[in-house]
Amino acid sequence: MNIYATVVLAAGKGTRMRSALPKVLHPLTGVPLLAHVLKAVEAIPTASTFAPLMTHRPVAVLGYGAAEIQATFGERCLYALQEEQLGTGHAVLSAQEVVDALEPLPQTVLVCYGDTPLISGEILARVLDEHLTHRATVTFLIATTEQPTDFGRVVRDTHGRVREIVEVKRANEAQKRIKEVNSGVYCFERTWLWSTLQSLPRNAAGEYYLTDLISIASSQGRVIATVSGALDETVGINDRVQLAAAEHLLRRRILERHMYAGVTILDPVTTYIDDEVTIEPDTIILPGTMITGKTRIGSACRIGPGTTIDQSVIGNRCIVRNSALEEAVLEDEVSMGPFSHCRPGAHLACGVRMGNFGEVVRSYVGAETDMHHFSYLGDATVGEHVNIGAGTITCNYDGIRKNPTVIGNGVSIGSDTMLVAPVTVGEYARTGAGSVVNHDVPSGALVVGVPARIIRKVQTAKDSTAEDNQKE
Ligand code: UD1
Ligand code: CA
Repeated sequence: MNIYATVVLAAGKGTRMRSALPKVLHPLTGVPLLAHVLKAVEAIPTASTFAPLMTHRPVAVLGYGAAEIQATFGERCLYALQEEQLGTGHAVLSAQEVVDALEPLPQTVLVCYGDTPLISGEILARVLDEHLTHRATVTFLIATTEQPTDFGRVVRDTHGRVREIVEVKRANEAQKRIKEVNSGVYCFERTWLWSTLQSLPRNAAGEYYLTDLISIASSQGRVIATVSGALDETVGINDRVQLAAAEHLLRRRILERHMYAGVTILDPVTTYIDDEVTIEPDTIILPGTMITGKTRIGSACRIGPGTTIDQSVIGNRCIVRNSALEEAVLEDEVSMGPFSHCRPGAHLACGVRMGNFGEVVRSYVGAETDMHHFSYLGDATVGEHVNIGAGTITCNYDGIRKNPTVIGNGVSIGSDTMLVAPVTVGEYARTGAGSVVNHDVPSGALVVGVPARIIRKVQTAKDSTAEDNQKE
């Protein structure tokens, strides 16, 4: 059985981000950078061909913003503290105690950086598999690029054997032109790792670089293995320009995943979909649409253009045009917009038609209800087959608390009605245009005026059938 531990370095402030937020908490496609790396780490066992493998929860090395990061990831990781950020070698050594306390004890330590969010479980597994197959002392991931920028350069001898990794700060002109770069993923033989890190001197930059272990292994004649990966899987995020480039790349990958799974995306350039969003086949996403959080969208919907949806659930065959939804639920066949807003707790049941300039918050709207123009429903429970006339407002806030409005099945609310909550409108009742309803309305009553009063019982289809029957 091969047992390995994973150490993820995340102690740096990320000075080049120029941010109060720790670098690894910066969001990428809606989730923190570190979450992307953890996802890849967690996918290793299923991605590896080198069975059987056994591992533990990853050990995250924290320093700057440790409490905030730990609060974000909780039980998902084990944690080690690097109080002073003295370099990546020093950071790995800070994890020694935690790693050595693991049971069963791992022989191999996989190290990766918390700021390389494009990494995949497959590539990490390849580094691990290569390491184990070659019984190497150290194995690391290499990428080749025409623009090596701030990556460490991989220096080889005349036989093509890896000699060292030279950081760009210390590289000479010839080394700066090297196109083979260090991607920042390593496997080490555990006992060699600790003893070598303990005797590692500070380098000219005053830091302990993990990368200096390569030249030490080379001079000791140890087995150094390498794996080549694609650059776009391994780019590190050091500043916000690189963050935007990674966002662009990942966003494209997410959109392609949806398109291959049967979702039409009319204009990928203006469509933003977070990593955790799910969309069923035959849904069409129109331009200028942003779908974020853990939103779920059913099949055969038409979403957009110009729509933002956050943390919401949308059923099948819905139409949402130029609208905004936050923490809302639309059941099947709901039509919404253009220019409407469902705020947290809005729940529109099957077949609801919510037209333009409507707002719903903390309210349930029953099946087949119409609310076509300029209306506000807050803290309301609305029945089925209700018609909400243009300009209806639930006056739910009395300056101190939010009060509920209940509207029964089949009610017809006249245009410009003010429903002064708390208030209940009974089934099949009607309110006249412009009424201000500040008392409960009995079922079947028609109320009008300011304040609204009953003028008669509503004649419903049901009533007239009953009367006809009586006449006969
Ligand atoms: C590092 C590598 C470089 C490689 C590149 C790949 C070193 C010395 N250099 O450079 O060869 O090409 O990554 O992306 O390793 N960290 C700590 N504690 C510290 C210092 C850093 O936890 O004391 C963490 C950071 O939070 C970060 C990661 O280690 O997540 C990498 O550090 P960073 O400063 O970004 O290294 P690079 O300059 O990108
Ligand atoms: Ca980096």
